[in-house]
Amino acid sequence: MINVCQNLFKFDDFIYVRSRSDICHDNEVDMTENGSTNGSDSGSPLTKEEVDAIHETWALVWSDKKNNGIEFFVKFFTHFPEAQDKFKDFKGLSIEEVRAHKKLRAHALSVFYAIKSYIDHLDDLETLTELIRKNARNHVDRKVGGKEVKWLVPPFVELLEEKTNGKVTELHKTAWTKVFDVIASISDEEIEKAK
Ligand code: HEM
Repeated sequence: MINVCQNLFKFDDFIYVRSRSDICHDNEVDMTENGSTNGSDSGSPLTKEEVDAIHETWALVWSDKKNNGIEFFVKFFTHFPEAQDKFKDFKGLSIEEVRAHKKLRAHALSVFYAIKSYIDHLDDLETLTELIRKNARNHVDRKVGGKEVKWLVPPFVELLEEKTNGKVTELHKTAWTKVFDVIASISDEEIEKAK
């Protein structure tokens, strides 16, 4: 069990401080490893435990967003070279050339800031959906639909594995997969609308 309702918590060599209000709601909740619900009726596809799991892992990624963004894109293009071809700045470059490219940092940060806007609104489904839809619309001409969005899951989980020294649980994986599934499904809707 990882107690998420404490001011200080640690993933081995990574220690950071968060405010109680950021991670705790009305009552103290111990995050379990099995992803069971604690009875949320908000209409969200995520349980309260999954939302906590997202926040605690996102905090790790966000705390070093520039470097983690670069690592994420390198992993993304390594897993799915066809994704790299969609980026005009990176098409045809070796993975080391991409890693060193001055535009990679900006690309990666733009994507992470967009994901952060989703994570900040997990408790407000209407706003969350509109944020995702806006970005999905911007991706229609790039032919990025649900299938392509789901490509993001393996590199993201791999990044989390590294950031937590292998302490990513099934709960974390399920929670993040659900987030990317929601983004994927809205992306497919926007592709369909544009036909
Ligand atoms: C969580 C999912 C994603 C988010 C939040 C996201 C976010 C963004 C943002 C904020 C931008 C810059 C603003 C814009 O031009 O629209 C962007 C650009 C772009 N994205 Fe995504 N993206 C996602 C998934 C993907 C995927 C899966 C692909 C490809 C397989 C992709 C391909 C692109 C391309 C090609 C650009 C244009 C880059 C350029 O300026 O040349 N995106 N994305």
